[in-house]
Amino acid sequence: MRPHTQLRDELLLADGVEVNVTGHAAILETRTLHWSDEGECAAFAQALAARPALREACIELRGPLGAGKTTFVRHLLRAMGVTGRVKSPTYAVLEPYRLGELAISHLDFYRFADAREGLDAGLRDVFAEPGLKLVEWPQNAAGLLPVADLRIHIEPEADDQRTVLVQACTARGLALLP
Ligand SMILES: Nc1ncnc2c1ncn2[C@@H]1O[C@H](COP(=O)(O)OP(=O)(O)O)[C@@H](O)[C@H]1O
Ligand SMILES: [Mg+2]
Repeated sequence: MRPHTQLRDELLLADGVEVNVTGHAAILETRTLHWSDEGECAAFAQALAARPALREACIELRGPLGAGKTTFVRHLLRAMGVTGRVKSPTYAVLEPYRLGELAISHLDFYRFADAREGLDAGLRDVFAEPGLKLVEWPQNAAGLLPVADLRIHIEPEADDQRTVLVQACTARGLALLP
């Protein structure tokens, strides 16, 4: 397995063009985690769900197909008290949830290129509303999204293991770091 520092450099480079060109995703602090199975993904989600700062946070989820971005969101929403099915928004782009007063928007821009035109205005409304935003494939909507507080990059390793980079890009993000 690659050493964590090397993996981190590779990921930062992979994301680097966009970060440097737009200049808005300065990474303030990074934590590198290792999940040996999905249970550790769930445990991380449960710990995050207990943080008050989460309620107004925008969290980007990066990593290849099948990395566990949607799975992480499922564990997070369950831990927050969302009941019922948590669907992947791959086709719908947006799956909204309401938890009492709290609005939660789970977005997935994997297929966004096709639908982009019609959705720009709707997106502005989603991000203008207070609440929690969870965004898969933010790269595909670059320029339309606000600066995320936290970036979670999930990288698959052997079997169910994952290397996870958690990067804070704002003060709120710092308050959410594990
Ligand atoms: N450590 C782990 N963390 C998260 N998901 C895992 C882990 N190990 C195995 N999985 C499985 O990997 C798959 C991830 O799928 P999904 O969450 O849809 O990926 P993505 O949204 O990143 O494309 C799920 O079937 C999940 O059960
Ligand atoms: Mg997904």
